[in-house]
Amino acid sequence: MGLNRLKDKVAIITGAASGIGRGVAELFVAEGAKLVIADINVEAGKATAAALGDNVRFKKTDVTRSEEVKALVDYAVSEFGRLDIMHNNAGAFGALGSIFDLNDEGYDFTFALLTKSVFLGMKHAGEVMKTQGSGVILNTASISATTPGYGPHLYQAAKAAVLQMSRTIALEFGQYNIRVNCVSPGGVYTPLIGNMLGVDEEGIKQAADYMATTIPLNRVGTPQDIANAALFLCSDEASFITAQNLIVDGAEATGKRYQDQGMH
Ligand SMILES: NC(=O)c1ccc[n+]([C@@H]2O[C@H](COP(=O)([O-])OP(=O)(O)OC[C@H]3O[C@@H](n4cnc5c(N)ncnc54)[C@H](O)[C@@H]3O)[C@@H](O)[C@H]2O)c1
Repeated sequence: MGLNRLKDKVAIITGAASGIGRGVAELFVAEGAKLVIADINVEAGKATAAALGDNVRFKKTDVTRSEEVKALVDYAVSEFGRLDIMHNNAGAFGALGSIFDLNDEGYDFTFALLTKSVFLGMKHAGEVMKTQGSGVILNTASISATTPGYGPHLYQAAKAAVLQMSRTIALEFGQYNIRVNCVSPGGVYTPLIGNMLGVDEEGIKQAADYMATTIPLNRVGTPQDIANAALFLCSDEASFITAQNLIVDGAEATGKRYQDQGMH
């Protein structure tokens, strides 16, 4: 049981059928929130909602489609009467490879999934929150938004755009008492890594074990690590924090240790 830090708050989390989003969903519900899980994976979305109890609904949503994101927001309001928290989190690596391997379709797909989705989430949730006079938006960015070398080209560019768009919209939304922040995970043990590498659970573990050796805290992150940061940013404890990016990466992207570069 949690401390009811989100008591009576109504939240939407996109991409909550798996990985980080699911971890955030579990913690938000334990802290008293009512929740709509949005995902394109219907089977996993329904199973997650059922596992989390009576205060949780599932709504099939493709976050790249404006009318579906609007319908999602309308659904949350019709089920629970309001919308306090919008966590735009769904994503995948998108198009991979050298710039010479990338094409227009891959570009459009990646930016629709990672950047347009966040724009749509902020726009449609913002409409309701503006009328309400309060709300919190949290966008999942990445350490790759600020430090090159942590993902494919278009993924990194799309996440950088999420960061800047979050800041600029935070400035517009301040007058409506809507806060907008980002959480930026480093490497987290989720199916996202396996989907990119085309490997199974064992392959993900091997990749995560290797990744851990590059992280000063000597382990990869967990969905719970990111959920704890999300809870803080979405709770009233963060009521004077907006337009910020909270990096949760065990110092992965801070730089290489001096001694690891052969120095003393
Ligand atoms: N895992 C990491 O190391 C890591 C690091 C930094 C940032 N992130 C970011 O965290 C977020 C969550 O990633 P994760 O690791 O939990 O991945 P995941 O694959 O475990 O979960 C992503 C979820 O998003 C859903 N999704 C994909 N496309 C969608 C769409 N069009 N509409 C609705 N839902 C869709 C998937 O079905 C899945 O349930 C992503 O934005 C990702 O870029 C992950």
